[in-house]
Amino acid sequence: PDRAAPAVARTPEELARIRSGLGRTALVPTMGALHTGHRGLMAAARERADAVVVSVFVNPLQFGPGEDYERYPRAFEEDLRTCAEEGVDVVYAPGTEAMYPGEQIVTVDPGPIGDVLEGASRPGHFRGVLTVVAKLLHMVRPDVAVFGQKDAQQLAAIRRMVRDLAFGTTVVGVPTVRDSDGLATSSRNVYLSEVERTSALALSRALLAGADASVTGPVGILGAAREVLDAAAADPVPVELDYLALVDAHTFAEVPPDHRGEAVLLVAARVGSTRLIDNVPLTL
Ligand code: PAJ
Repeated sequence: PDRAAPAVARTPEELARIRSGLGRTALVPTMGALHTGHRGLMAAARERADAVVVSVFVNPLQFGPGEDYERYPRAFEEDLRTCAEEGVDVVYAPGTEAMYPGEQIVTVDPGPIGDVLEGASRPGHFRGVLTVVAKLLHMVRPDVAVFGQKDAQQLAAIRRMVRDLAFGTTVVGVPTVRDSDGLATSSRNVYLSEVERTSALALSRALLAGADASVTGPVGILGAAREVLDAAAADPVPVELDYLALVDAHTFAEVPPDHRGEAVLLVAARVGSTRLIDNVPLTL
């Protein structure tokens, strides 16, 4: 059933006025073009607070030159309807001017986690993510902030920032939401043609093959996943692998062959002109 439309705040001042009337608050930061994955975060937020704030802001600071900042999907009216359906209380949608009134000189250094995997492929990306998330946390001052496991390295970097810089916010991670065919839902999936989408299924298939081989240890896991991705490199639209890695869930350092305990199997690849990432948590 439809709920009342959420209040919309466009500036830090408008937000502060609304925020002062809210009780225990959960924040769901997003870049909009909301899909079932975002809905999962909103539902998790709803369970943990009296009021849910969703931020919608396509953050220029986390896009590199030549990335998709300009063409990133924007669908604000539809996003508002989605938020209403999920019982969101406030949508914070600042303009670029409200978020970055001047040059952003001071930024958040992610440390070593910012230089590997996604950080190696996208220099400056995690500095941009942490800087905007820090600003959103200061503006909203939520008790709880909710993020998806879909962006596992982002979640780990944010957890570390919140701890190392004493934000005092509780960070909640939500498992990845997938379409029925296994593809992790993503705002960037709208870029995929039908045939590209078929090729893209190799990512989740590879992770599943790796997870099924988890008793064989790191070498077996990576081998099983690699086999699926190698086959997909010959698809009509080839899957061009960026990285496949098995890492420690906290540091994102690659695990040694005798690793036991929590780990994350990660994949990043290009399908046509679309770059996709996916991962699965494993216990070895
Ligand atoms: P965005 O890509 O819009 O994602 C917003 C949140 O939704 C992130 O926490 C992301 O991990 C989560 N999410 C996306 N797809 C998901 C899925 N299939 N299942 C579960 N969660 C999913 O991530 C960002 O925006 C930005 O980097 C942001 C944190 C907002 C900073 O700009």
